[in-house]
Amino acid sequence: MEIQLWREILHPYEQAVAELMVKFRSLREEYRRNNQYSPIENVYGRVKSVSSILEKMQRKNVPFERMEAEIEDIAGIRIICQFVEDIEAVARVIESRTDMRVISLKDYLTNKKKSGYRSFHVIISYTVQTIHGPKDLLAEIQIRTMAMNFWATTEHSLQYKYKGRIPEHITEQLQEIADAIFTMDTAMGLVRSEIIDSQLDSQLQTELVRGILTSIENLYRVESAREVEKIQTEFYEIFKSGDLDELRRFQRQLDIIAEGARAQSVEDRLTGLDRII
Ligand code: GTP
Ligand code: MG
Repeated sequence: MEIQLWREILHPYEQAVAELMVKFRSLREEYRRNNQYSPIENVYGRVKSVSSILEKMQRKNVPFERMEAEIEDIAGIRIICQFVEDIEAVARVIESRTDMRVISLKDYLTNKKKSGYRSFHVIISYTVQTIHGPKDLLAEIQIRTMAMNFWATTEHSLQYKYKGRIPEHITEQLQEIADAIFTMDTAMGLVRSEIIDSQLDSQLQTELVRGILTSIENLYRVESAREVEKIQTEFYEIFKSGDLDELRRFQRQLDIIAEGARAQSVEDRLTGLDRII
């Protein structure tokens, strides 16, 4: 096939990967903005290289005309979660979305592959808008924990090194490591709620401090420098105590001061206007 043709074929897939990455990353940001736990920890994406596409077509005996229909992972998205439990949550989010349609699910979580590979795959149909109109294409979303990802990336590089023929003793070792990783993931699941609570607290603290600093900055415009410095000192004291409720109360107090100052400044301006008239 001509090089130019490959570019044309792959371009919508590049667009799809870019769009899907933005969408899943935004989802993570939205959870965080709402001070909710995000089941999505990280999002990666890639378009399959021409050499891998060709290799897979050969391996699976796929003719060029069937390439887009049968190679499901030309567009690939990988979603990394902290806990095994999050994987299902992400799968449910995908199923509920109206901008992608689930074609099939591959559950290598409960049915690990012989290699030891664990992951949950969702094949979706996704529409990209091009200058030639809408184009439906397939994309593979792999959802796995950080630990599963560690295993898969390492094993994948060995596959590459040994060209798919990893020596028996290494294969066995890899299977054992995969099981150990699963045991670890399960153990992490037992302290999941504890970890989530502490992560939410730290997220909340970050948000509160960000808000407080913005309010203090704004106060410089309406209050005397001495007054603002006093407020700042108070903020440092509360921050040191590490009490989130106190920080929240302080933020509300600042809102009230800022509101009062705003009202005062409007009044001043109106009085000024009175004088002019
Ligand atoms: P290929 O394995 O790519 O030929 O795809 P397939 O159509 O057979 O689908 P499958 O669900 O088996 O694999 C899809 C993708 O999952 C692969 O491209 C890999 O990214 C990943 N995967 C599947 N099995 C393994 C494995 O044993 N090790 C690693 N590292 N990744 C795997
Ligand atoms: Mg395979």
